[in-house]
Amino acid sequence: MKSAALLALAAAAAVNAGPTATLRSRPRATELEPITVTGNAFFKGKERFYIRGVDYQPGGASGNIDPLADTKVCTPDIAKFKKLGVNVIRVYSTDNTLNHDECMNALADAGIYVVLDANNPKYSINREHPAPSYNAVYLQSVFATIDAFAKYSNTMAFFSGNEVIHDLTNTTLAARYVKATDRDMRAYIKARKYRKMLVGYSAADVTTNRMQTAAYFNCGSEDERSDFFAFNDYSWCSSDFITSGWDAKVRAFTGYGLPIFLSEYGCNINTRNFGEIESLMHSNMTAVYSGGLMYEYTMEANKYGIVEIKGGQDKGGVDQTGERKELPEFAAFQAALKKFPAPTGNGGFTSTTKASACPTQDEHWALDTTTLPEMPEGAKTYFENGAGKGPGLKGDGSQWAGADDSSSTGGNSGTGTSGAGSSASSSSAAMRGSVPALDMAPVAISGVVALFTLVGAMAL
Ligand SMILES: *[C@@H]1O[C@H](CO)[C@@H](O)[C@H](O)[C@H]1NC(C)=O
Ligand SMILES: *[C@@H]1O[C@H](CO)[C@@H](O)[C@H](O)[C@H]1NC(C)=O
Repeated sequence: MKSAALLALAAAAAVNAGPTATLRSRPRATELEPITVTGNAFFKGKERFYIRGVDYQPGGASGNIDPLADTKVCTPDIAKFKKLGVNVIRVYSTDNTLNHDECMNALADAGIYVVLDANNPKYSINREHPAPSYNAVYLQSVFATIDAFAKYSNTMAFFSGNEVIHDLTNTTLAARYVKATDRDMRAYIKARKYRKMLVGYSAADVTTNRMQTAAYFNCGSEDERSDFFAFNDYSWCSSDFITSGWDAKVRAFTGYGLPIFLSEYGCNINTRNFGEIESLMHSNMTAVYSGGLMYEYTMEANKYGIVEIKGGQDKGGVDQTGERKELPEFAAFQAALKKFPAPTGNGGFTSTTKASACPTQDEHWALDTTTLPEMPEGAKTYFENGAGKGPGLKGDGSQWAGADDSSSTGGNSGTGTSGAGSSASSSSAAMRGSVPALDMAPVAISGVVALFTLVGAMAL
């Protein structure tokens, strides 16, 4: 996520999560058909399904406030989503202790699916110390989020991680724990006999390891392979298919055995015309990609938004309830969605799925093993009994909670770090308090990454 304000994390800790929406009985929401995967594409029933969506996190990443638990927040935005004509939104922060019936049902009534990040700044894999952060406390939070949203027919998918792997080669060591989480989420959905909800990773816009990351999340046994692969892409700035380097990426991903979509596409250095949508819906791309999510709906400090929220009630410096003002790019995005509808027919997809070969260790990929850690012993009870009450977005966090859970660090060969053991023994409440939310750290350096990637894309 491209928020500039990691600084605001401290402030965010003091922010209250949104008030629970008032519950009143309402008619049953519209049932949306589940989105399924065949080969390298999404389907809604027999129809190919393309993501034509937006990233939605009013208050930004640092705000870390659930927008789907309060109708004062979601209702005016759902009206805008309908006006735009989007069919999917991605929400980064949701609170698994709150009730989401009103917002989720209103989204379903609007025909809109939701893709959720199952992690949040406090409950996530720590990229510097991934082994101890993969623990039962973390998985309880992830599973509680799945429990909270499984009942809605419009919950399309969950991200098992967001930009955990980065441009520093040693961050690829964290991939092992994100993939283990990804595997566990799929297993949990199955064990709890939930309806089909897809699980996959949302990768940062990093040229050096993008293909290896994609291969990694699609290699190994069936239960280890993701349902899809998504990545964030900031290389198109009102340019075109070739100048942006998207043509080269389509070539690179041709033959990849899972659906691919852009979990963020954006630009904030010139006025956007959203020509991306023309290409995403064009036969240039539809055989390989299944659409994307425009970054982003609200205007935040990092200046990507198309709607400004102003004059509402202040939640610790985060305004979620003010008046919605459409910025000029709102109309441009709306027009592009209208002008370039989802194509009819199957888009030239490949009907058979295919595992990738796992990437081998090299200068950009530090992992030297393809085995995944076993799920921590303490998390097994959730498969039988459900996750129980989740921790929400506040609480102590999970990143150091696995310090004493030896099962979570077992089989940790090949991480090339003594971090698992040493951080485990030095873990303490003091340390816990001082550890930044590393899963969101790309936030802080994303400007660098975006530039880096522009250069990288030109070099492609
Ligand atoms: C990667 O390297 C940085 C410093 O170069 C270090 O702080 C970090 O702990 C390392 N991460 C891992 C997973 O080894
Ligand atoms: C499709 O690809 C061709 C090059 O192969 C390019 O000239 C054209 O602009 C592309 N169109 C779109 C909409 O991406």
